[in-house]
Amino acid sequence: MIVTTSERPPVETIEHAMSIATELEVSYAPRSNKTIRALQTKWEEEAIVVVSPQEIRLMQEGQQPFYFHPSMALVRLKRLRSGGNDTLISVSGAVTGDTVLDCTAGLCSDSLVFKYVVGEQGKVVAMEASRTLHVIVREGLQTYKTGLADIDQAMRGIQTVQGQHQELLSRMEDNSADIVYFDPMFEKPVTTSNSMVPIRSQAVRESLTREAVKDAIRIARKKVVLKDHRDSGQFERLGFRLARVSASAVAYGVIEIDG
Ligand SMILES: C[S@@+](CC[C@H](N)C(=O)[O-])C[C@H]1O[C@@H](n2cnc3c(N)ncnc32)[C@H](O)[C@@H]1O
Repeated sequence: MIVTTSERPPVETIEHAMSIATELEVSYAPRSNKTIRALQTKWEEEAIVVVSPQEIRLMQEGQQPFYFHPSMALVRLKRLRSGGNDTLISVSGAVTGDTVLDCTAGLCSDSLVFKYVVGEQGKVVAMEASRTLHVIVREGLQTYKTGLADIDQAMRGIQTVQGQHQELLSRMEDNSADIVYFDPMFEKPVTTSNSMVPIRSQAVRESLTREAVKDAIRIARKKVVLKDHRDSGQFERLGFRLARVSASAVAYGVIEIDG
């Protein structure tokens, strides 16, 4: 992977691209009026992160570009705004003022819905193992404009952290969050989840470990929630009670924390 800029970049964009390259520990390739394909050939790299004044985009040979967008979160938030329900919010029981740990941030769609619900008094920490996804989503959350002030404010308020949740959770104090949430990559992708397609190449696909769930139970004051495919076997393996199954086989399991 290399990092470059959009064509004819302002100085700040060049500096931004250089700092992103340093953070990702890859080379910075000056754009020099070259096409992305020409840069791929010259540097013998398939993946190129393109920094522009508006956004950061991952371009990969044979794949759709990946950039931050609020994805299905926007539809879900519009529903909540007009008094409707959201499955994750109902299952998790998240309310204003809660602290939520999203252990598998991805595009932060779920984090955004959580942050909208917990509000200014609450907190959402979104952990992502992939450095590339973390950088693109972190920057997108700070700059993307939906045109809806309350949703933009929620995006800006999510705290993103790069790292493996197993490690991050192991260092957290007991009872320090209300809800701990896991949404690992499905081994068997569901066809309705198109927003996940461009991130599949970068996403970390490890099974959730018993140790991580044990830490989550230690940290959560209210609930630990797992989203997975209905037939994944993970709910039974890790001790989650199946709380909801959608028509598309996406299921939510919970572990309730007693008083
Ligand atoms: C299915 S996606 C999550 C989608 C997310 N809920 C959303 O709303 O956009 C799973 C994400 O978790 C990340 N991931 C997988 N294992 C992880 C781990 N051990 N620690 C942190 N992130 C992890 C993957 O890289 C991927 O981006």
